[in-house]
Amino acid sequence: MSDELLRQVQLHGSVPAHIAIIMDGNGRWARTRALPRPFGHKAGMSAVREVVEGALAAGVEVLTLFAFSQENWQRPAEEIGALMDLLEEYITRETQDLRAQGVAVRFLGDLDRLGPSARAAVDRLMEHTAAGSKLALNICISYGSRAELTRAARLLAAEAAAGRLDPAEIDEEAISRHLYTAAFPDPDLLIRTSGELRLSNFLLWQLAYAEIFVTSVLWPDFTRAHLWEAIRAYQQRERRFGKVSL
Ligand code: FPP
Repeated sequence: MSDELLRQVQLHGSVPAHIAIIMDGNGRWARTRALPRPFGHKAGMSAVREVVEGALAAGVEVLTLFAFSQENWQRPAEEIGALMDLLEEYITRETQDLRAQGVAVRFLGDLDRLGPSARAAVDRLMEHTAAGSKLALNICISYGSRAELTRAARLLAAEAAAGRLDPAEIDEEAISRHLYTAAFPDPDLLIRTSGELRLSNFLLWQLAYAEIFVTSVLWPDFTRAHLWEAIRAYQQRERRFGKVSL
């Protein structure tokens, strides 16, 4: 059944080059099983592997995952600790496979807020996978879109103050070049799991023309077949970018 889905995806061309995902619902997944929330995050880690493999099989070029927001720093210390431990576990467990699969991992966000051990682990994974050319996997941690835009404004202002940039030349391209995602095209498709209808301060600039796909599936239950279903839905959309149909 899922092989048939992948065949349909490949048959209908126009696979989104860049897919962004808000991985939501880990807490609810755990609650329905009467488990503590970190168990939901742990199960969510397996879903990350599923979507990476599903994206590789479908020929997606860039996958950007929202793993930890700036606002998430306000969660109880115990949950933050569990998430950071999981991040390190993910890195230890997946580095070799990601490298062998040709996945280049980058972490996007305010990485200076990470503790020294998590910081060393994310730097290590980025370094070990830098040569990957099949899929760019961006994992957003300590990420907030408004903070990212504020940082871009600060960088542009500093260049202008130093006399290296004429403020009259600041255009949309210049802003895009100063975002964490500068090296990538904007997402074509945004997937949000667990049914919430919000952007939650994720890629506000970059998602301007993305198609949005919301599923009620909770993140730990999300499989590669769900990813392919989302791509099939995308392939049936008409993208107009503000223009009329031809
Ligand atoms: C949202 O669910 C999910 C998170 C805040 C964490 C996402 C983390 C993972 C998927 C696992 C680790 C991933 C990597 C890449 C190591 P929620 O807790 O807000 O769920 P709820 O809305 O049901 O409470």
